[in-house]
Amino acid sequence: MKILGIESSCDETAASVIEVSEDKNHIQLLSLITATSLHLHAQTGGIIPEIAARNQIKDIIPVIFAALEKANALGDKRIPVIDAIAVTYGPGLIGSLLVGVETAKTLSSIWAKPLLPINHLFGHLYANFLETSEQPHKKILFPAIGLILSGAHTDLILMKSHKDITWLGGTRDDAAGEAFDKIGRMVGLPYPAGPTIEKLAQKGNPKTYHFPRPLMYDKAFDFSFSGLKTAVLRVVEKQKTLDEQTIADICRATQDAITDVIVYKTILAAEKYNVKSILLGGGVAANQTITESMKKNITDKQLDVQLYVPHLSLCTDNAAMIAAAAVFQGKETPWENVIANPELYFD
Ligand code: KG4
Ligand code: ZN
Repeated sequence: MKILGIESSCDETAASVIEVSEDKNHIQLLSLITATSLHLHAQTGGIIPEIAARNQIKDIIPVIFAALEKANALGDKRIPVIDAIAVTYGPGLIGSLLVGVETAKTLSSIWAKPLLPINHLFGHLYANFLETSEQPHKKILFPAIGLILSGAHTDLILMKSHKDITWLGGTRDDAAGEAFDKIGRMVGLPYPAGPTIEKLAQKGNPKTYHFPRPLMYDKAFDFSFSGLKTAVLRVVEKQKTLDEQTIADICRATQDAITDVIVYKTILAAEKYNVKSILLGGGVAANQTITESMKKNITDKQLDVQLYVPHLSLCTDNAAMIAAAAVFQGKETPWENVIANPELYFD
């Protein structure tokens, strides 16, 4: 079975074709095409929705056909040889989402292919089910804890199976990704700041600053990162100028605080629910300090838990994860009933 995935929730316009084995144990990537307007947002400190949406319109058709061509899935008269179309219908920016959703509806209708609307947040977790050359076949065991670490979301999910999924907690204010980005902006780093903070943190002294770890020991599985942002702001305001070493020290202390909270809460949930797997997903999961700390804690606590982190290219927004989520979460829906929902969360 071949599925075409389409993702357009923010600044990435993405399409991908995956091939799924009959037993659903093998999900292969046949193509992965992503266009982005990120460079247009780098200096503004965040995404400008209008610019993101305009670029979605420009890129969506070329990206979809590039993905189909690369996968060798274009048949006669450019009608694709695929079995279904999966599309992100939320959460995200309404202008951006509409482009992917309305394009998918149109293609589903004229190509007579089933349409599977997908929650972008599930997509981030299902990126773990894709096979890559570095990570061939994986049989992910349940129960599992899913940790979604995207730009706007920090959520802990309990997955007893593909059909039995419970939201355990999430951020009460800023997401971890948002904290990285906002703190980066305070110290003059371009958007998105997460990858740069990770790089600069390597040169930072871990002892110069110690930022708060909000809600870390709270029993609920909620997060809060806005206090961290305020603590950094206080440090920044005290400096006459921000030299390179101070910025590196701030980056280090920020990354350490975020890592400690995220890892502590995830391990707590893994122990409480006696899980066999932890699945990370989202852009912040690309952070090696976070993943290494998660691995170390699993080992130190001698937990019988397998940690899964998507390939780096599949941590940030892409369409293969949307197609992969459709394999297990896809519900065929008449195109008339598929409506972009920027506020979509968990049912
Ligand atoms: O999942 P994603 O690509 O987009 C959303 O769905 O929001 O996540 C983007 C977020 C941004 O906040 C970015 O700063 C962060 O992921 N990010 C990182 C790293 N790479 C991306 N944060 C920390 N370390 C990284 N290496
Ligand atoms: Zn995302």
